[in-house]
Amino acid sequence: MIKHFLSLSSFSKADLLSLIHRSHFFSQNQNRPDQIHHLLKHSIIANVFYEPSTRTRCSFEIAAKRLGADVVNFVPEHSSVKKGETVYDTLKTLESLGADAIVFRHSDDHIIDLIKPALKISLINAGAGKYEHPTQGLLDLLTLFQEFDKLEGLKVAVCGDVKHSRVAGSLIVAAKIFGMQIYQCGPESLLPEIPGKHVENADFDKILPEVDAVMMLRIQLERHENLELDSKSYHHQFGMNHRRQELMKKNAIILHPGPFNRGVEIADELVEHPQSRIFKQMSNGVATRMAVLEWAMSGRI
Ligand code: NCD
Repeated sequence: MIKHFLSLSSFSKADLLSLIHRSHFFSQNQNRPDQIHHLLKHSIIANVFYEPSTRTRCSFEIAAKRLGADVVNFVPEHSSVKKGETVYDTLKTLESLGADAIVFRHSDDHIIDLIKPALKISLINAGAGKYEHPTQGLLDLLTLFQEFDKLEGLKVAVCGDVKHSRVAGSLIVAAKIFGMQIYQCGPESLLPEIPGKHVENADFDKILPEVDAVMMLRIQLERHENLELDSKSYHHQFGMNHRRQELMKKNAIILHPGPFNRGVEIADELVEHPQSRIFKQMSNGVATRMAVLEWAMSGRI
C-alpha cells in the first residue's frame, strides 16, 4: 500500500501519537548509527522543492541519511523545468528513475491532490502553498509534547500572518485533533476565518499570560501582492519582545518555524532566550522527518 504523508487531517489521534513517540525516540537516538542506520538502507529519497527552503530540505536530507537512505536533490533552476517540463512529468520522471519516495514542496495549495493519484511511490508534503505543512505541524507537536508531557488542553497563541501560513494551517488541524486551544493574534487582515471552537481571535498582550506557548510567524511577503510593511511599527504592535516575554508564564515557551526576521516578528535577543525552543524545533525537525520517512517507506511492497 502506498503511504502518502500529505495532511495531518488524514491521521487519527492515535496514529499521530505513535508518530510523535517514534519522533521522540529518534530525537534521543539521532546520532546512534548502530541503532538506526539500517532502517532505510537501499532506499532513495528525492527532495523536490519548487520553493526555497533551508530547514525543511536539509532536515529531510539529514533524516534520510541518518536512516541509511540515499538522497537525490532535484533543483528546479538546474533542471528541465527550465525547458518547460511540468511538475507532473518531473515527478513521474523521478518515479521512473527509481526514487522510492518524493519529498515535495510547491507554492500551489492543491497541486498535490492532482498529482497524488498518478504516483506509485510515497509523496510527502514538505509545504503546500498556504495550506498545510504537516511535518512542521508534527515537529511542533513533538516540541510541545516534550515540554509539557501532554497536548490535550494546551493553549497556544499564534501571532503574525496566520492567513497565509501553512505552519498555522497544520497547527490548527492538530489543535482540533488533540483538543488544544489556539488564539490567533496579529493584524486583522492577516487572520483567517475561524474554523471552529478550538480557534479564537485574541488581543496578543491580553492572551500572553494565559498561554503555554507562543508561535511567532513571519509575514509571508511572497504570498502578498502589495503589502507595505513598516518593520519597526509591526515589531512594536505584534513582535515578541522583552515586555511581552515578561507577560508570559514562566514555563511558557516561544516557538517559530523559521526563517525568522530578527527585529520584526521577534526581537534579536529573544531568539535564543531560555524560554525559546526555536533551535529545539529545528533539531526536532530531523527526528520527526525520520519518523515520517520510516512510516512512509513501511508501505512499500
Ligand atoms: C515555513 C514554511 O516554509 O512554510 N518554514 C519552514 O518550513 N520551517 C515558514 C515560513 O516560510 O515562514
